[in-house]
Amino acid sequence: MRPPEATPAIHPPPPTDRRNFFKEALAVVIGAVLTLVPVAAGLSVFLDPLRRKSAARENFVKVATLDALPGDGVPRKFPVLASRTDAWNKYNNVPIGAVYLRRADGNQVQAVNVVCPHAGCFVDFSAERGDFLCPCHNSAFSVEGTLKPGSPSPRSLDALKVEIRNENEVWVAFQNFEAGRADKVPLA
Ligand code: FES
Repeated sequence: MRPPEATPAIHPPPPTDRRNFFKEALAVVIGAVLTLVPVAAGLSVFLDPLRRKSAARENFVKVATLDALPGDGVPRKFPVLASRTDAWNKYNNVPIGAVYLRRADGNQVQAVNVVCPHAGCFVDFSAERGDFLCPCHNSAFSVEGTLKPGSPSPRSLDALKVEIRNENEVWVAFQNFEAGRADKVPLA
């Protein structure tokens, strides 16, 4: 009678093999993190202009009716009212600024922000002089809002886009801009 065959013993891998396995796995994880972080940062920089663009999306607000604008091209000042929502409440018809509107040719309407681009005072329109004047440091602007020579303002009044809706409603893409610089940089 043959003696029973001995069952081969199962030995666990030597501890050095396990250590190597963990080291390699850790190296792979660290490598993946080091690769993904710069890619994510690059993507966010790439997408940033898109984010800013959507933040500065045109915000059309109904400001007046065509009937309210004199046909002689003299600007009239209108408050800009809009809805505002905070964490708990919604407020309707909150004043968010003001604009001067004027009829140009026919039903063409021009809009400028009342804020002086020099340092943020409100400009006034003088019907006698036929131009805008800032009371703070005497910047002067033509009836179209163009900067007059000798004014401290670095740019003309900020023109705003206008849409006529439902034949008689004047909607303005209201926006404030940074004061004190030659280019128009929208404020959030
Ligand atoms: S704020 Fe208007 S001229 Fe200075």
